[in-house]
Amino acid sequence: MKYPEHLLEQIRQQSDIVELVGEFVALRQRGNSFIGLCPFHSEKTPSFNVSRDKGIFKCFGCGKGGNVFTFLTEHQKLTFPEAVKELAARAGVHLPDAADSEEDRQRASRFEMAFKALREAANFYYASLWTDDGAAAQEYLRRRGFTEESIRDFGLGMAPDSWDALSQELRRLGFAQEQLVDAGLVIPRESSGYYDRFRGRLMFPILNAMGRVIGFGARTMSADAKQAKYINSPQSLVYDKSKALYGIHHARDAMRRDETVLMVEGYADVISLHQAGFKNVVASSGTALTRDQVQAIKRYCPKLYLIYDADSAGANAAMKGMDLALAEGMDVYVVRLPEGQDPDSYILQEGPKAFTAVLKKAMSFVDFKGDVFRAQGSFETAEGQAEAVRSLVSSIARIPDHLKRDVFIRNVAAKFGIQEKLLYEEMSQIQRRQQLQLRRSDGLRRSLPPTGEPGSNQAAPSVGSSPGIAPAKVAEPPPETTAVPPSAMAPAEEKLLRVALGEPRLLAYIAEQLSVRSATFINEHSERLFTQILTAAEQHADPAQKLLSPEALDEQDRELVSKLCIEETSHSPNWQKFNAEISNDPVKIVNDSISSLLLTARQREHDSLQAQLKTASPAEQGQILLRLRDLKNELLELEGSFSAS
Ligand code: CTP
Ligand code: MN
Repeated sequence: MKYPEHLLEQIRQQSDIVELVGEFVALRQRGNSFIGLCPFHSEKTPSFNVSRDKGIFKCFGCGKGGNVFTFLTEHQKLTFPEAVKELAARAGVHLPDAADSEEDRQRASRFEMAFKALREAANFYYASLWTDDGAAAQEYLRRRGFTEESIRDFGLGMAPDSWDALSQELRRLGFAQEQLVDAGLVIPRESSGYYDRFRGRLMFPILNAMGRVIGFGARTMSADAKQAKYINSPQSLVYDKSKALYGIHHARDAMRRDETVLMVEGYADVISLHQAGFKNVVASSGTALTRDQVQAIKRYCPKLYLIYDADSAGANAAMKGMDLALAEGMDVYVVRLPEGQDPDSYILQEGPKAFTAVLKKAMSFVDFKGDVFRAQGSFETAEGQAEAVRSLVSSIARIPDHLKRDVFIRNVAAKFGIQEKLLYEEMSQIQRRQQLQLRRSDGLRRSLPPTGEPGSNQAAPSVGSSPGIAPAKVAEPPPETTAVPPSAMAPAEEKLLRVALGEPRLLAYIAEQLSVRSATFINEHSERLFTQILTAAEQHADPAQKLLSPEALDEQDRELVSKLCIEETSHSPNWQKFNAEISNDPVKIVNDSISSLLLTARQREHDSLQAQLKTASPAEQGQILLRLRDLKNELLELEGSFSAS
């Protein structure tokens, strides 16, 4: 079936191209865009660019480019309708479908309404914080050192101390009681009716990676030990605590940039570290780290720093999380804070410099486990020591990369004075056991299996084992483009097309000026593309997106359009200058480009007349000379018309 344009647009807008591509390609932020190794051809230096703002990807190596829809059709070999369905599902947009059962439809709309209710609830709590009701909470937050900026950034709020303040507000906004139940915001009374789940508490909205509110953590402000310190959203249609990562939306870009994530325990830890400039921080929110969570963070970066309280509960949590992360191929480090401190209290007390120093002293998991066992007295008996070493080897056995395993085995052998051979024997036994377990739990597959695309150096998003993204490599400029150049497209044409695509509001102006000044494109291809942009603009506010969707253009034109839309990371000084101009004064670019087109056209006419002159009859010569004079004047005028630059 054909989906209505507005729906496709809604899906596109609610899809984050960096998120999507990031599942298959290790991306690092570079200026305004993200770069990585192209999944469409084999390369060693990244020339694959993704722009979140523009919603476009483009490889300057092989030329491939497009939007979210094209990425799925080309990379995952989905059909266009399949790509639409996949993206709609991820974005939580309901697609009407003739075959939809009434039940499907209801479920989809329940889903969307739950998201809406949660967003409104977050707004309500945030607004309440700044009323008289919120005075105590404001004071509490101030006392804990949270700046107003952090409060705004993380959308902290206050649930009024009332049984139905939120319900009333959401009912007023038109939500039905069941929708509030779906969102986990109210609890049924034993008799009848409902009451607000969160009352008189400080509210921490929990966002998913895309920035949608999926739940809340709610902290008491009273010192009363009978009250639970935190109440969290229940498992619901939209909230699954084993998948949620507090702070992921705020951390994701920094995680990519730094190739590292800091994993802490609590909401307050995330905000305090973020506030102190450590933005690559997430929390598992009171649950032990799960495999889903590790897989989610692994999409962004290969290194995990576990930062847990120094107490034994903290150490145990670290031990569990560590094994999961190792099994996913992540590099794991453990940071221990002084007794009685958590990251929040530590950063407030000691400041960011001290925290950086603590991070620098992070231990490898081998050293960390060794320390924990030593503290437990395991090394005082032979049995204890054997147990400790076995536990270490069991962690090492999970690491998928055998080179890394070797390094750690040698490390353990040296550290504990045990023959490597014995450790390897132990390891293969453990591996056999682990494989059996794995096979049993193999039901949990990802929704989008990587396909065997050409140059499958990026088939799986296993950032950790991909040597191609070493920082030193990434710092190199991408290679010269090998893509087919837009055949003999004049620079001026290229500029006009760039403006047409980047500033569609100027399309009418460009068309008008071309006509008023009787200028035309020189290159047929450019001409055709410009017409296509005009047509696309009639159907879509963003013609580039219309053209980049599958089936709109042929492959070559799509490559060209995406190239015209996105900046190459290693742009020349000229490019940078052009870019600055295009944002400062696109009208000037249009005028100058049209002048330049005219200049070329008139120059050509001039040259050809000059050639004719020699063979022309005297009568013709007179006419030609007149025309040549006009042309000369026009050329001079045109040259002068370029604004001094
Ligand atoms: N937590 C929870 N329920 C509780 C206690 C804790 O869900 N009853 C979760 C919260 O996500 C909390 C995290 O576990 O952020 C860590 O707990 P804790 O260290 O006790 O709290 P802090 O985050 O340090 O909170 P604060 O600094 O405000 O005391
Ligand atoms: Mn704390």
